[in-house]
Amino acid sequence: MRHLLNILDLTTEEINELITTALDIEENPEKYSESCKGKILATLFFEPSTRTRLSFETAMLSLGGSVAGVSSASSSSASKGESVSDTVEVVSGYVNIIAMRHPKEGAPYVAKRHSLVPIVNAGDGGHYHPTQTLADLMTIYKKKGTFENLTIGLCGDLKYGRTVHSLIEAMSRYKGVKFCLISPEELSLPDFVKKEYIKDKGIVYEEVSSLEEAISSLDVLYMTRIQKERFLDEAEYERLKDSYVLNEDKMKSAKSDMIVLHPLPRVNEISVKVDEDDRACYFLQTRCGKLMRMALILKLLKEKNEPERADTRKMFVDPDKICKNPHCIVTSEQEIERSVYKDKNCITHCAYCDSVI
Ligand code: CP
Repeated sequence: MRHLLNILDLTTEEINELITTALDIEENPEKYSESCKGKILATLFFEPSTRTRLSFETAMLSLGGSVAGVSSASSSSASKGESVSDTVEVVSGYVNIIAMRHPKEGAPYVAKRHSLVPIVNAGDGGHYHPTQTLADLMTIYKKKGTFENLTIGLCGDLKYGRTVHSLIEAMSRYKGVKFCLISPEELSLPDFVKKEYIKDKGIVYEEVSSLEEAISSLDVLYMTRIQKERFLDEAEYERLKDSYVLNEDKMKSAKSDMIVLHPLPRVNEISVKVDEDDRACYFLQTRCGKLMRMALILKLLKEKNEPERADTRKMFVDPDKICKNPHCIVTSEQEIERSVYKDKNCITHCAYCDSVI
């Protein structure tokens, strides 16, 4: 069955279709108000969320369906030590579709192996967040009318920024796209994204540490929060947390039609004064998020019996290859199969979190 674990599970044509559906839902909400009557969405959120969980839940309610779920690990039997696989085995027998957020990278890959219904990755640690990318893409489409020939600046936490990883993978498929990676060295983009989706594709990119120097060349500026919850060393977080603040002064150097995106929540990386600037699109992004999640729920339920898209990675099991990423699901899930794959350069990666082993 179809799942959405990674944005590349959707073709560019499917993304276009989702945007078309989302725009139609926006124009004609009543047409869709009973489309999911009798269907139930489970939101399994083992990590905090405002936008993603509530937009999934209101999306399903607006489609005439129902919702059930958990909003934290502490309110579920995960707090008693229940595994992801057992949780999903049980919950997928109660509902028609599951949106799951988990702090461990690769948790949705475990979930899909044990699920009777489509799984949507609503964010797995610092790995991927594909439905945020659907919100980002609809916002870019609304404001720019195209995905081609855009220079996209990604600023802040590019290392643990799951929204950044998913957006780069999505945008790397469009002609003429350039990336400007703006981060402190300690939070630079991990190789599993940079190598495969930028360098190996021959995409033009630069890595800089100064937002001031980069801003004038950008069509899209994607700001991100430095995420305290991802750091193992609090002192390092304290040192890096105020690396970038977008304010009115910096906006003066930007193009008149540059757009500012942010997955939110923000802390202080965008001054509230910037909200008054017409180029600030992060609240529009949240509205696009609900519409795209409605379109996605419709699609996955309709295509429930269609085969999953073939994974191009050639997986194999190697019990001797131990993933060293402390944020990977293999560190917490009992008796998990040690799945790995080799990339084009014959380097072995963990199949759950993509880290090099
Ligand atoms: N963008 C996003 O994922 O927000 P939440 O953490 O509030 O869901």
